[in-house]
Amino acid sequence: MGSVRYRAVPRYYITTPIYYVKDAPHVGHAYTTVNADALARWHRLIGDEVFFLTGTDEHGQKVARAAEEQGLSPLEWTDQLAPRFAEAWADLDIANDDFIRTTEPRHRDAVQHFLGRINDNGHIFKDTYRGLYCVPCEQYYAEDELVDGDRCPIHRIPVEHLEEENYFFRLSAFEQPLLEWYESHPGAVVPESKRNEALSFIKGGLRDISITRTSIDWGVQVPWDERHVFYVWYDALINYLTAIGYGRDEERFEAWWPAVHHLIGKEIIRFHCVWWPAMCMAAGIDPPAHVQVHGWLLLGGEKMSNSSVNQISPADLSAEYGVDPVRYHLLRDIPFGSDGEFSAEGIAGRYNADLANNLGNLLSRVATVVGSKCGGTGPAPDPTSRLAGVAATVLAEATEAWNAGQPHLALEVTWRLIRETNAELEIAEPWKAEPGAAVDAVLGSALEVLRIVSILIVPAMPATAQEIWRRIGLEGSPADRRLPGAAGWGGYEAGRPVEKGAPLFPRRRG
Ligand code: MSP
Repeated sequence: MGSVRYRAVPRYYITTPIYYVKDAPHVGHAYTTVNADALARWHRLIGDEVFFLTGTDEHGQKVARAAEEQGLSPLEWTDQLAPRFAEAWADLDIANDDFIRTTEPRHRDAVQHFLGRINDNGHIFKDTYRGLYCVPCEQYYAEDELVDGDRCPIHRIPVEHLEEENYFFRLSAFEQPLLEWYESHPGAVVPESKRNEALSFIKGGLRDISITRTSIDWGVQVPWDERHVFYVWYDALINYLTAIGYGRDEERFEAWWPAVHHLIGKEIIRFHCVWWPAMCMAAGIDPPAHVQVHGWLLLGGEKMSNSSVNQISPADLSAEYGVDPVRYHLLRDIPFGSDGEFSAEGIAGRYNADLANNLGNLLSRVATVVGSKCGGTGPAPDPTSRLAGVAATVLAEATEAWNAGQPHLALEVTWRLIRETNAELEIAEPWKAEPGAAVDAVLGSALEVLRIVSILIVPAMPATAQEIWRRIGLEGSPADRRLPGAAGWGGYEAGRPVEKGAPLFPRRRG
């Protein structure tokens, strides 16, 4: 007898890929993580119950070799590296709810349980594998996928011949079920071009894939044959289930799965949009509901990566520009779904235009004039201000953009409100006028815009949002307000102390 189950609050489960602990994180990794954090924060703002997961992918040959090069055991190595990811994310103000390491016992148990189910369901068999393997990809390639004869199409290094006894997953049996599933779930992979890429992999024909290794022992042991460990990708994908209680806490698992949002880079579409849904079907659970694919952060036209020299550390960048400007740049300048060039000129240009000249300028001129014309006490907003309409439109459009997973559009729209408010001030010139009702109305409305903007920028720049909130005399945190109600015009109460303070974003030269 099932009881009636309903949820008053929608749930939003968002994940990043788990990062290989081959080296310290670079800005390319930060790109995914900041996007996921912003979306998680947005969903908290609109009142959803959020679970935001990130972590580290610690097994496999790639990590074992990196450890060996350092003269360390794999576990010693990953014990050193995993905290560097966690710290990098804390430094970037990432508010993840969990941080999973694939070397944790909870994950080993989930992997063994999940793959045990697939085995029990008859989708695994044993055979000898001969193939061409790229270690940095942790993936076998068919000959016709190679470039320049024997090179991996991603890393452009020669692949290796491997031959071993493996267990195989009968992926070929899922060709039709996957096509049918995608047919009935048209929005499962966005953008559309990436969905088409996934579909063409499937339509191109699926071969059974090897899922275990005997050549290394750095991995999760196969429960029914202890000479084997699971291939790292099979182990890694399951992290998304481990963290929500798969195999341990069915009620919790069912509360969060399958309505997940996987954020991934475009190079791992095949794993997330072909293998992963097939594995889920084979284990008897639903495939993930949403995969959002983004492009690469490029430096000089090349993907920023661990195996190239062009990596930049998030900490270096934040030391130079500040945490929130780095977050803002990553969200605002690289449209989600496309590649984007990363450059010092790009980040500095965006900083000056949007942060110093617009947002920072608005706050400082309003605070200064409230100081000189209103004795430092904020007046009430004008209920008839034109800006009320602008704010309402901006809220509606920003909401649509955030909900569609398009932070760059949401921020572009939000800045329209800031620009229009600066323009109003330039027309009204309250700094030249005599104190009185007209000046109060203009400044009260500008303070109201700053209040609304503080809430709207929480996902992108949480610390800046908090600081503006505090300077205009508000208590608590903008992150604790709930949209859309909190952005209704007129929420700023007169009589609050407004603090001038140092410029939020001093203009940068060059
Ligand atoms: N460990 C696997 C993922 C397993 S998920 C079950 C992996 N790790 S990775 O560290 O190589 O890359 C993880 C993710 O980092 C990529 O999918 C992508 O989201 C992000 N990025 C790494 N370099 C990037 C750029 N240069 N630009 C944008 N994102 C980048 O693959």
